[in-house]
Amino acid sequence: MDKKVILSGIQATGNLTLGNYLGALSNWVEMQDEYNCYYMIADLHTLTIRNEPDALRKHTLELIALYIAAGLDPDKNTIFIQSHVPAHTELSWILNCYTYMGELSRMTQFKDKASKHADNINSGLFTYPVLMASDILLYNADLVPVGEDQRQHLELTRDIAQRFNSIYGDTFTVPDAYIAKVGAKIMGLQNPTAKMSKSSQDPMDIILLTDSPEDIRKKFKKAVTDSENCVRYDKENKPGVSNLMGIYGMIKKKTMEEIEEEFSGQGYGAFKTAVAEAVVERLEPIQAKYYSLLEDTEKLKQIYEKGDKKAEERASKMISEVYKKVGLVV
Ligand code: TYM
Repeated sequence: MDKKVILSGIQATGNLTLGNYLGALSNWVEMQDEYNCYYMIADLHTLTIRNEPDALRKHTLELIALYIAAGLDPDKNTIFIQSHVPAHTELSWILNCYTYMGELSRMTQFKDKASKHADNINSGLFTYPVLMASDILLYNADLVPVGEDQRQHLELTRDIAQRFNSIYGDTFTVPDAYIAKVGAKIMGLQNPTAKMSKSSQDPMDIILLTDSPEDIRKKFKKAVTDSENCVRYDKENKPGVSNLMGIYGMIKKKTMEEIEEEFSGQGYGAFKTAVAEAVVERLEPIQAKYYSLLEDTEKLKQIYEKGDKKAEERASKMISEVYKKVGLVV
């Protein structure tokens, strides 16, 4: 039987956080044996904000290195660069014509990003979810593993697919979001009521995947908790401690009850140290592999060229089918 298809991606903005790793990348690694996986570097999406061109090129290669360092096997997965497969932007134009302004105006990420970049509310930022829908629908993906913040974009993707299918007959697979129960929304360490985000202004709020062990320890030590001094899961009233428990639980594969038991009678000091050590232990080998891969740009190029070719083969079939369905002469 054919394996089910997965597609997901991360923007090549640099500064990936522990949130990106636990919410997305670490799940991808676990899925690579069971599914036919397409993991792309979302470089086109990053153009919705201003980037230094050289930095974007650098971040694109770095992200490929990080995918591999985190455990994605380039022989098992199709790892490719979004802009290298023209069908993404081609389908995006078509699907723009099947997506309503009202739908896009309701996207909370658009509202959020527009308020953060008030001087650059470009139309790419507005239509960004259509490009994301195109990424997914081009490959007939069954499942899309993402963090909680992408749920609304996935719902829109499903709506667009269903709308298109109802007009032209079965064309796109209607994908499901795969959002893990734990780790889908890692919160900031200083402000545990907001998600940990690469664009955070406060470096103490986020753990970068490239942070040194000393920085990781320092950041967890200073993480905001509460005055109860009891390791107990209560997202509503103890968001800081609950977030740390989520991080620890994901890495150690432990339930919240098991963590409560492990740290019963111990204060936050010991708990924070244990969380920091778990993160350091997980990230150290990833960092070592990442830095060594970065030196081998030829290898990185071989990986994405192989992936680009496989992605292109699949995507070009779908774009021809869509062109035909909407009435373009092909
Ligand atoms: P991006 O680059 O912002 O984030 C990449 C992935 O990391 C997840 N994530 C988090 N998960 C848990 N806790 C957090 N604090 C956290 N922060 C980020 C995101 O949910 C995401 O899964 N538009 C997408 C990239 C994209 C894409 C696609 C994804 C482009 N095309 C097609 C899936 C399918 C984005 O900006 O993710």
